[in-house]
Order: sequence, then C-alpha cells, then structure tokens
Amino acid sequence: MEKFRFLTSGESHGKCLTAIIEGIPAGLDIDIDFINNELKRRQQGYGRGDRMKIESDTVEIVSGVRFGKTLGSPVTLVIRNRDFENWQKIMSASPDDKTDDKSFSIYRPGHADYAGSIKYNQKDLRNILERSSARKTAIEVAVGAVAKLLLKVLGITGTSEVTQIGTACCPDKFHQEIDLVKEKGDSVGGKFVVVYKNIPVGLGSYVHWDRGIDGRLAQAVMSIPAVKTVEIGDNPLGLCGSQYHDEFEIKDGEVCRKSNHAGGIEGGITNGQDLVISAVMKPIPTMISPLNSVDSQTGENAQAHYERSDVCAVESCAVVAEARVAWILANEILLKYGADSVEELKNRI
Ligand SMILES: Cc1cc2nc3c(=O)[nH]c(=O)nc-3n(C[C@H](O)[C@H](O)[C@H](O)COP(=O)(O)O)c2cc1C
Repeated sequence: MEKFRFLTSGESHGKCLTAIIEGIPAGLDIDIDFINNELKRRQQGYGRGDRMKIESDTVEIVSGVRFGKTLGSPVTLVIRNRDFENWQKIMSASPDDKTDDKSFSIYRPGHADYAGSIKYNQKDLRNILERSSARKTAIEVAVGAVAKLLLKVLGITGTSEVTQIGTACCPDKFHQEIDLVKEKGDSVGGKFVVVYKNIPVGLGSYVHWDRGIDGRLAQAVMSIPAVKTVEIGDNPLGLCGSQYHDEFEIKDGEVCRKSNHAGGIEGGITNGQDLVISAVMKPIPTMISPLNSVDSQTGENAQAHYERSDVCAVESCAVVAEARVAWILANEILLKYGADSVEELKNRI
C-alpha cells in the first residue's frame, strides 16, 4: 500500500535525474536549501572520488509547488548531471550519434555487469553501468528530503552516524583506515546507524507479512547499492532474553521502557521508542588495483574495467539510508493519518 509514491529515472552520465512524487499533502513548506543541503551531505565524506568534485548537485522543482508550498499535485524534482556536457554524444538518445567511446566489455566483479548484461541482452556493459550505478541515489536523497520536510512538521527528525570503517571502530581512526586502503589501490566498507526520534506509536502492522514496518524498512535500506546487512535495534545474537528485551516501568504516571534494544519496533509496529537501524556497506567494488575478470567479447581472462571511483562511501550511504527511512515513515504516516492538507494531517495526529 503506497500513499507516498514516486518513480525516479536517469542514467549516471545522462542529462538529468528525475523524480515524480505523488501523495504529499497540500500546504507543505518546501525549503529548497534544505533539499540541496541533503544533496551536499550525500556528496561529502572522506574517501569519495573525483566525480564529487565535478558534480555539485542542486535540485530544480518543476511541478507541484507554488510560492514555496506544495499544491497536493505531483511534485517533480530534477537534478542535472553537470558531467553530461562531456557525455552528450556518448549518452545521446539519437541512433545517429552511436559511438563505441566509453563502451566496455570486461565485467567488474561486485557490480551488476555480468548478470545485467545477460538479463537485458546487452553487449556494451556501459548500458548496465549507467542505471545500476549509485548515482541514482542523488535523486533518492532529494525525494527523502521532501519526506523529511513532511516528518519535520510532525516533530519527527532523523540523523545518521558511521560506526565502523573497515576494522576501525572509533572515528579517530576512520581517515587513517581509508588512507591505508587507498595507498594499496584497494577499497573499504563499514557500518552506520540511522536514528529517527519522536515516532508515533502504531506505524506498521502485524496483520500480514508485508505490513510489518520492520520488513518495509529492511527492504528500503537493504536495496541501497552495496548494503549487505540490515539490523533493527541491537543484534540479539548470543543474548539471553533477560539481556535483550526492553522492560516496562511506570514513571510520572507514564508507561516507559528501561532500554531500547528492539530499536523502536515490536511485532512489526512502531512502539514510540527511537527507531534505530544499522547497516553494513560492502567495500566499493571498483578498485585501482583491479580484480581478475573476463572480457565478454574476447572470452579471455582480463583485468576488471576501472572507472573513476570512490575508495569509501559509507558516510554517503548513511545519508541515503536516512532518506530511504524517511520515505517509509512518510508513507506509513500518510497511511495511518491520511490527509489532503498539512493542516488536516496535524489535526489528525
Ligand atoms: C553512495 C554510494 C556510492 C558508491 N560509489 C561507488 C563507486 O564509486 N564505485 C563503485 O564501484 N561502487 C560504488 N558504490 C557501490 C555500487 O553501486 C554497488 O556495489 C553496485 O551497484 C552493486 O550493487 P550491490 O553491491 O548492492 O550488489 C556506491 C554505493 C553507494 C551507496
């Protein structure tokens, strides 16, 4: 069930990335500086590649907003790829411009190249790279920023933090860990946590397997490129029941909890505690010291194709996860309190 619905489009080196969002109540203040700042946060982080120096993402709003407020109609967001000026012919929609420039045929291990080329019957792996690339997460962050603006009206706020890079678990060592792998022409992943506060009790449900908000959140975070594990609350592995479950107590006449190991969800429903989700990002698959691979055209062994790449993108990945969690929360809020205007939504909550 989708109330906050959207589609995105756009290739990594295409003209632009676009999103059309439906379901945002009328009267929501759209702070474009806030959206742009979220885009900037996604682009930052120690270990990002040179492309981030070329691209300085900003959003254009081309529908659904008038004089700073949503109209209740679909909101269309556009982010122009500044690098497109160097790729106009290579990414042209016209058959007259067909070129082999930037084509490649050596699979990159850890990317969609091999499976994608078989699935979509493509010889030029560029046709797979362009949409499977994490570049699309820029427009996803813009959509998430709009969802965050809606959540903010209701007092719900989210943040994220990197908790591990490679083997380093303390922030003082993160840069050093990235520098070390960079020197070796290698890459590194890590772990981050996303926390949302002030969530109402009762988002999601246990009535069907696909209504649990834990499952919805897990899908949203797991499908971020390079995310390989998602945890809600603390990892319970090896803990006894008495160590893991969050006891109740009455404090000043209110029902309270003594801990939040469950991360704010019990039985597929938010329980009013902070929502806590962590995820592990694998090491970036494109490396200066390339892995062994195969050339799909010659059938020979070869070294994996290298294209300008990040060494570490865990900080950015955390920002993408914040955005995706915001989509899910906005959707669940609209499902529960559904309203045509922000005023109506506030009254219902
Ligand atoms: C913010 C972000 C930036 C990324 N940057 C790169 C990159 O520069 N080079 C690269 O090879 N992979 C990068 N990735 C990871 C790949 O997109 C991802 O591993 C690949 O699409 C395969 O998907 P999978 O790992 O989920 O199977 C990035 C991922 C994210 C979330």
